[in-house]
Amino acid sequence: MSTILITGGAGYIGCHAVKELLRQGHQAIVYDNLQTGHRKATQSTRFVEGDLADSKKLRETFQSSSINSVMHFAADCQVGESVENPLKYFNNNVKNSLLLVEMMMDFDVKKIVFSSSAAVYGEPTKIPIPEEHPCLPLNPYGETKWIFEKILQGLHEARKLDFISLRYFNAAGAHPDGEIGEDHSPETHLIPISILSTMNGRPIPIFGTDYETPDGTCIRDYIHVTDLARAHLLALERLESGGPSGIYNMGNGNGYSVKEVIETVREVTGMKVDTIESPRRSGDPARLVASSAKIKRELGWNPEYPDLGTIVDTAWQWHRKHPKGYND
Ligand code: UFG
Repeated sequence: MSTILITGGAGYIGCHAVKELLRQGHQAIVYDNLQTGHRKATQSTRFVEGDLADSKKLRETFQSSSINSVMHFAADCQVGESVENPLKYFNNNVKNSLLLVEMMMDFDVKKIVFSSSAAVYGEPTKIPIPEEHPCLPLNPYGETKWIFEKILQGLHEARKLDFISLRYFNAAGAHPDGEIGEDHSPETHLIPISILSTMNGRPIPIFGTDYETPDGTCIRDYIHVTDLARAHLLALERLESGGPSGIYNMGNGNGYSVKEVIETVREVTGMKVDTIESPRRSGDPARLVASSAKIKRELGWNPEYPDLGTIVDTAWQWHRKHPKGYND
């Protein structure tokens, strides 16, 4: 069993990966600045409250344990904010990530699983999107993820490290045990805000109803967060057994429109969700649907919860039990 450093391990996706690592008997060290993460999300593991820019703390963390591999989740991840404040994104997602890999080099840690995004593709010309699709990000967030993938590729070619980059489509849902789930402040993602709307009565804006899609709203590929977490374990095993580096899409290959998602939330919760037709949100591609054939074929990944209704139901159970998120 290995000792894994998980940056951003107190965040939404990171904490699900930590839980899976612990379940499989690994040692996990969570390194998180708690700007968006929650200490309560990772109660049963070693925790360091630190920022990647804090080289002293990061060095001490590497010094104090014999780390085998890194899972790198820590990042800023709001597309709209990245358009308004690109420097924040280049600093945190690129510069701070570079500090992390430099530290890995110093301590001879050579394996990293990286959280990338479907945002690297921009507006796709082919659906479902294969990994070799050209990358033309529409916003600084997508640019930062793509730049860091290229940095990892360059380091790999120089034989400095091995990496697997997972390009997430729309992560959603919560752990089926109801203990961890999504808690962003403010919440901007479609599934949680639709569920929260059943509780607070606030109507949901539908960003754009004039897209070239069957019902005019954007289409996305939703993937359950524990299926995503399990893919990180498969990637880690692949790297630790000397397997090749690579880039993989993470989605289910099923596209759902904004209206279909809201309808699913109504069906699952049995409650009312009011909507307001609103202008398009800038930087939103009309359709993002993954081909995940590569990760299924090469890493044997098989989603346990591909069905949208189940994904929404796990999110609903979490929000129902924790209406104030981790503050409950
Ligand atoms: N949407 C609404 N109303 C809302 C919120 C969202 O209509 O109040 C729509 C969006 O316009 C989009 C869809 O619902 O069409 C999904 O939006 P989310 O904000 O839930 O997710 P995104 O697709 O924008 O974002 C996800 C990830 C990002 C990643 C991006 C890639 O959360 O990290 O995919 O494009 F960068």
